[in-house]
Amino acid sequence: MNAILVASNRGPVSFTLSEDGSLSMRRGGGGLVSGLSEVAKDLGVLWVCAALSDGDRGAVRMAPGGRLDQAGYETGALRMLDIPPATFHRAYNAVANSTLWFVHHLLYDTPNRPHFDARFRREWESYQAYNEAFAMALAEEAPHGARVMVQDYHLSLVPAMLRGERPDLRVAHFSHTPWAPPEYFSLLPDDVAAEVLEGILGADHAGFLTARWGGAFMDCCETVLGAQVERASRTVTHEGRTTRIGTHSLGVDGKALWARASEPDVESHMAALRAQVGDRRLIVRIDRTELSKNIVRGLVAYREFLSAHPEWHGRVTHLAFAYPSRHDLPEYREYTAAVQRCAKEIEDEYATEDWDPLILNVDDDYPRSLAAYRLADVLLVNPIRDGMNLVAKEGPILSPGSALVLSREAGAAVELGEHAVTVNPYDVSATAAALHEGLTMPEAERVRRGALLATAATALPPHRWFAEQLDALG
Ligand code: F6P
Repeated sequence: MNAILVASNRGPVSFTLSEDGSLSMRRGGGGLVSGLSEVAKDLGVLWVCAALSDGDRGAVRMAPGGRLDQAGYETGALRMLDIPPATFHRAYNAVANSTLWFVHHLLYDTPNRPHFDARFRREWESYQAYNEAFAMALAEEAPHGARVMVQDYHLSLVPAMLRGERPDLRVAHFSHTPWAPPEYFSLLPDDVAAEVLEGILGADHAGFLTARWGGAFMDCCETVLGAQVERASRTVTHEGRTTRIGTHSLGVDGKALWARASEPDVESHMAALRAQVGDRRLIVRIDRTELSKNIVRGLVAYREFLSAHPEWHGRVTHLAFAYPSRHDLPEYREYTAAVQRCAKEIEDEYATEDWDPLILNVDDDYPRSLAAYRLADVLLVNPIRDGMNLVAKEGPILSPGSALVLSREAGAAVELGEHAVTVNPYDVSATAAALHEGLTMPEAERVRRGALLATAATALPPHRWFAEQLDALG
């Protein structure tokens, strides 16, 4: 049996059901999965995740005990949970993504939302049931004394539930998002706010990407629970148990990224992009279309830059890749439409017969993203708030001579801010000025800063990030 277990909503693979009923498997998406997949394989970790789609459910139902590795798939040790679709939908879409994500990223339009009503109570019960399913599966799979690494806001109740079942285990929880300050966290109903905090405090070790997010968690524990917080030793004691609060930044495996970015499919995308934009300078952004990524303000900033600097007309192109995300949520669909509307306005205002000021792409294409990084002169990363943001780290590795325009609200700004052009993500005019600064930065300065950015970005690759947390569990 495995002595290290990982639990996360999204797993390392996903399945698609084709019309003829056959299943095809591919790598799962998202920052967490890319960070953890290699590590999990190398350490022989048992990964527990949820079935997210009909394809996944089809695969799980044919696997003994949900163990896909035992059904012949090359996944590494993997148990996928077939949680009833309605329960999953309420837990994932309504609570995790429409409530906890909104709280931690400060996304609510508070005069109108949130509404915590009877419907929310049903959704919350589903979130509890979904967390319970994970806790039970982990309790079943874990050998005595195993270390269990629980990931993210989807599973904030799991540590306490698991401890109730299996006090012999050593449990860590890791938040890949920011954490809200107490006055915003307290938008949650009091009992829900307490349950989330107490859920995580069931862990021996609670990890965060930056000291700021861990600090906000401690502030919430103090304010909401009245827990005893020791800021110097970074511990929280509540109802007789102490949880250590750790800061574990996540970086990029630079060698592996370069190896992937040197493959022929990336090179041919580079050639195609170059043919499309000619020798114009390139401002690049690559995001999933999340409300927190601030894509619309980024486009408005580019429009303001074009208006303030006519000397750049015809000499620059903005490549904006905004890939689909969470399309079950109406806010996300509306946001994608807003991005497209804004892009069209820029096209209408500035495009000429031989100049496309903006190329917006909304279809996911990883090799094309790598090609765009390699060609970038300026990389724009301007989230409203972000746990870390790996785009800000990948870009400087693949485009060492590019300038990075970076939101001060991204976790990555802690390590990269000194060498980037940092911006307040709400300040569109400052972002427009930063784009200009990036484009006009002398080459020697861009190269000098680029080298420092790349060094900082590769300082803490996923293996190290994971190993530090295992060590913290003892
Ligand atoms: O980027 C933060 C994060 O929480 C990642 O840890 C995770 O990969 C992703 O968001 C979850 O997104 P999704 O809803 O697509 O699984």
